[in-house]
Amino acid sequence: MDDLKQKYLSQIAEAADEAALESIRLAAVGKKGEVALKMRELGKMTAEERQVAGPVLNALKDEINSALSAKKVGLADAALDARLRDEWLDVTLPGRTRPQGSIHPISQVTEEVTAIFAEMGFSVAEGPRIDTDWYNFDALNIPGHHPARAEMDTFYMHRAEGDDRPPHVLRTHTSPVQIRSMEKRGAPLRIICPGGVYRADYDQTHTPMFHQVEGLAIDKDISMAHLKWVLEEFVKAYFEVDGVDLRFRASHFPFTEPSAEVDIRCSWEGGTLKVGEGDDWLEILGSGMVHPKVLAAGGIDPEQWQGFAFGMGIDRIAMLKYGVPDLRAFFDSDLRWLRHYGFSSLDQPTLHGGLSR
Ligand code: PHE
Repeated sequence: MDDLKQKYLSQIAEAADEAALESIRLAAVGKKGEVALKMRELGKMTAEERQVAGPVLNALKDEINSALSAKKVGLADAALDARLRDEWLDVTLPGRTRPQGSIHPISQVTEEVTAIFAEMGFSVAEGPRIDTDWYNFDALNIPGHHPARAEMDTFYMHRAEGDDRPPHVLRTHTSPVQIRSMEKRGAPLRIICPGGVYRADYDQTHTPMFHQVEGLAIDKDISMAHLKWVLEEFVKAYFEVDGVDLRFRASHFPFTEPSAEVDIRCSWEGGTLKVGEGDDWLEILGSGMVHPKVLAAGGIDPEQWQGFAFGMGIDRIAMLKYGVPDLRAFFDSDLRWLRHYGFSSLDQPTLHGGLSR
């Protein structure tokens, strides 16, 4: 008995961690441990022998058990001490700031444009970026053979072998949202549709994905004069100036008649662009009176209703206002660029509070 006791007490004293302690416990006082085996032998003893051996065995078991739990507490204390030593923390150090996010100029400009047109009673409509060629072309009076399809450098979606339905396209402009909005809401209608569009083109002023905002106003007495006034109000508010010269140039779009492209006066003197002065002109949008066939495709009676529409490049007007020289930088995700050109997430563009601060 004494040998047993000495053996286990010294093993317990030397146990390095809880796992070692647990295997000692099993070997000593576990169900199949050495003490349990000895207790089984009590059955073979005479009553007198048992009266002596029983209490001794029980005392041994108790002693080992209490040595085990004392050691357990000791090990836990030591582990805590070690952690406190290793995970030492100087709470007097100054805080470390995380890199700050910012609002991308395209999001900012989209918000600015939305705020300006909201003031004039336009609500925001959206449509899918992957659309059918009917919405992107046919409904906009661009039939299959029309050269505008080729000019737009359209991305066509893949169709499975043997499926000869016309393919879906990545929308080449936001104009299909005109048709979807007419179908959904009828006339009268006053909406803008901002969003991403796609064309296979890539250089300093073209990226395969870019952003437009479509405008559409349909009512009983809409004329080109309304279009001109709305655009002038927009340009003044957007560039935050009292006056900006606009130039309406006769143009052609299949979905408007008549059509006009609109340029703003600017100067490139010294290599930097200034809006509102100088002798240069910069095209910012296409526009016109909605073609009767387009109204009809959207389910609106062209005998009763007329409308104007325009489509403007968001990235382009962002470059102009915030002096971004290369369109491709918008989509490079370069943190240094984003930090320089980004906006604070807490400044919401509003007309009363200021569009850009
Ligand atoms: N959808 C034309 C484009 O992408 C722009 C436009 C829209 C022109 C509406 C007239 C009317 O070039």
